[in-house]
Amino acid sequence: MKQVFPRSFYNLTTLVGAAVAGVSFGLILFLIVLESLAEQPKPYMGILAFVVLPIFLIIGVILIVLGILREHRRERQGKPPGLQLPQIDLNNPHHRAAFTFATTGGVLLLVFSAFGSYKAYEHTDSDQFCGETCHKVMTPEYTAYKFSPHARVGCVKCHIGPGANWFVRSKISGTYQVYATVFNKYPKPIPTPIENLRPAQETCEQCHWPKHFFSEKQHVNTYYLSDEHNTKWTLNLLMKIGGGNIEAGPTSGIHWHMNIAHEVTYKALDQERQIIPWVRSRTPDGTEAIYKSSEIAVDDDSLQKAFTRRMDCIDCHNRPTHIYHPPARSVNHVMALGWIDPKLPHVKSVAVKALENPYSSKQIGLDSIKIEIEEFYKSNYPGLAISKKEEIERTIAEVQKIYTRNYFPEMKVDWKRFTDNIGHLYYPGCFRCHDGKHVSDDGKVLSKDCNTCHTILAQQFEKDTLRISLGGIDYKHPVDIGDAWKEMNCNECHINSEP
Ligand code: HEC
Ligand code: HEC
Ligand code: HEC
Ligand code: HEC
Ligand code: HEC
Ligand code: HEC
Repeated sequence: MKQVFPRSFYNLTTLVGAAVAGVSFGLILFLIVLESLAEQPKPYMGILAFVVLPIFLIIGVILIVLGILREHRRERQGKPPGLQLPQIDLNNPHHRAAFTFATTGGVLLLVFSAFGSYKAYEHTDSDQFCGETCHKVMTPEYTAYKFSPHARVGCVKCHIGPGANWFVRSKISGTYQVYATVFNKYPKPIPTPIENLRPAQETCEQCHWPKHFFSEKQHVNTYYLSDEHNTKWTLNLLMKIGGGNIEAGPTSGIHWHMNIAHEVTYKALDQERQIIPWVRSRTPDGTEAIYKSSEIAVDDDSLQKAFTRRMDCIDCHNRPTHIYHPPARSVNHVMALGWIDPKLPHVKSVAVKALENPYSSKQIGLDSIKIEIEEFYKSNYPGLAISKKEEIERTIAEVQKIYTRNYFPEMKVDWKRFTDNIGHLYYPGCFRCHDGKHVSDDGKVLSKDCNTCHTILAQQFEKDTLRISLGGIDYKHPVDIGDAWKEMNCNECHINSEP
């Protein structure tokens, strides 16, 4: 038989190495072809094709070289070749069976490894992979996501999106992320905002048409105060979402002020984009207005250097899916459903307090919540602790559920660390600009009037009369704090959650 390669190639080590290298190389090619045919880029395929498989390729090549070197040494020492290849005679039934067996096995092996790498390739794109397998560090984001309006929108839809440029970037950062995870080098919590998040035009706007006009949306909120009776009150808000374009319909409301027809640009002094001393609005006909904060002291030089950004979806909807709810909101919600019995005295404040105590791990948190709530009723309402045992147990279970979904002590994640810009109660949000203290040169103020963004249709306190008006009523703060709620930003008191 004529040998294609030099004689020293024919030894077991080299042949095994060649097989390993050959298969890995084939699989890499296979993945690259798959990738070029795929409609959606698979961000982490790069790890497989450019990190994992090449390792095998290199091992294969090393084996080949080692085998050849050893073979040369044997030759110099005058020993017979390391590999005596068997003589195969297909007329011999034993040989035939062995040959068939080996070939079928080989082919099956190839098919399965192709299938296996195809599966791995599919998997790197899935939400479990993003949220669980690779990124245990992302448990908080994944958990919040699973209970959000976008639970069925894949991670990559918002974080990668289509297009070659971002594909390559994500691959490079994906490889880095693997390294960071393996060597425990990631920051806790994962910082926000994401520096190079893909622009909203290429992600959100692929599904949500920015010019779409939303009618007004009603919110009926139920609240319970932190007193013994958990005094209930309700608020009925009509959100003026609006939107629309000049050709197709009305341009108004909250969605009016970004990319539809207007351009709003701002400068922020901090990385979280919360301190905004300077805002400019520009209308299609070129009219410009610059609003400067009368509160935030800043010199021209720092203003020049400040981070500048044109407003898009993310400047308001920065938590469309990773929402960590403030405890008061979650507890109000579950109480309104009756899952936590509002008749249990002080249950609102006890539940919120149990959630807000700092715990060092999730398990300690869950156990402590149970002890705290049980102890509270045992020592303050011993009779109730027995007669309402079932309600108290249900309360504990519900509070633990809220805790599981919103607090991640191991990753140092909770609602206080992840600002949500959509409202103004718990975080500065809209009031970063609409605080009534941003004034233009000609004296126009970015309004904080309570009926600018929503109409307060109705408000009612337990045992009080219903106040209602389609034109909007005056807001009444649930506890008497004078005019503080008009002068201060709401979050200044409410971030502490038990004001
Ligand atoms: C609807 C779009 C959307 C989907 C779907 C989505 N994300 Fe996000 N994600 C965002 C936005 C927006 C931010 C915040 C960006 C900012 O503030 O700069 C973010 C931030 C993050 C952060 C940074 C930390 C933080 O909370 O700000 C991580 C980590 C993350 N996402 C992981 C994931 C994972 C894992 C999935 C899938 C399980 C996922 N995302 C699905 C939109 C999305
Ligand atoms: C792949 C498509 C897709 C992408 C990309 C996407 N969304 Fe959504 N979005 C949806 C779907 C589906 C819903 C749920 C609609 C419903 O419940 O009626 C939704 C709902 C919403 C809602 C309403 C939530 C609520 O409480 O009812 C908001 C706000 C929103 N998306 C904002 C965003 C923002 C901001 C981004 C970009 C970071 C984004 N979406 C990206 C598909 C998408
Ligand atoms: C100025 C802040 C702001 C900007 C910028 C903004 N939104 Fe909104 N958006 C809101 C508010 C406020 C609501 C009402 C939220 C509510 O009802 O709780 C809303 C509601 C929505 C809804 C839900 C409508 C419904 O019927 O529930 C979607 C979808 C949405 N926005 C998508 C977008 C997209 C996409 C962009 C970017 C093109 C965008 N928004 C930009 C503030 C903004
Ligand atoms: C970065 C600063 C900034 C933030 C943050 C911001 N806005 Fe605005 N908003 C503006 C500017 C600038 C205008 C235009 C004022 C003008 O020139 O008439 C405006 C106008 C509006 C208007 C139109 C008022 C009118 O005259 O019809 C509404 C409604 C509005 N904003 C709602 C919101 C809501 C809701 C949020 C929070 C989700 C928000 N804005 C967050 C800067 C901001
Ligand atoms: C710049 C726009 C804007 C102005 C001005 C404004 N709000 Fe709001 N407000 C919002 C938005 C947006 C939400 C909805 C947040 C959400 O969807 O979670 C909201 C929600 C609320 C809520 C419900 C909060 C919750 O999470 O339970 C209350 C209460 C409220 N506003 C009161 C007021 C009062 C009182 C004023 C006047 C001092 C006022 N708002 C002025 C935009 C505004
Ligand atoms: C000076 C501090 C202070 C300011 C400023 C303030 N609040 Fe409050 N707020 C309180 C206190 C105290 C309570 C009672 C909390 C309780 O009983 O649990 C409260 C309760 C509330 C509640 C019920 C909360 C819940 O968990 O059920 C809402 C809603 C509310 N305030 C809205 C607002 C709005 C909107 C603004 C801004 C326009 C505002 N507050 C500004 C102190 C403040």
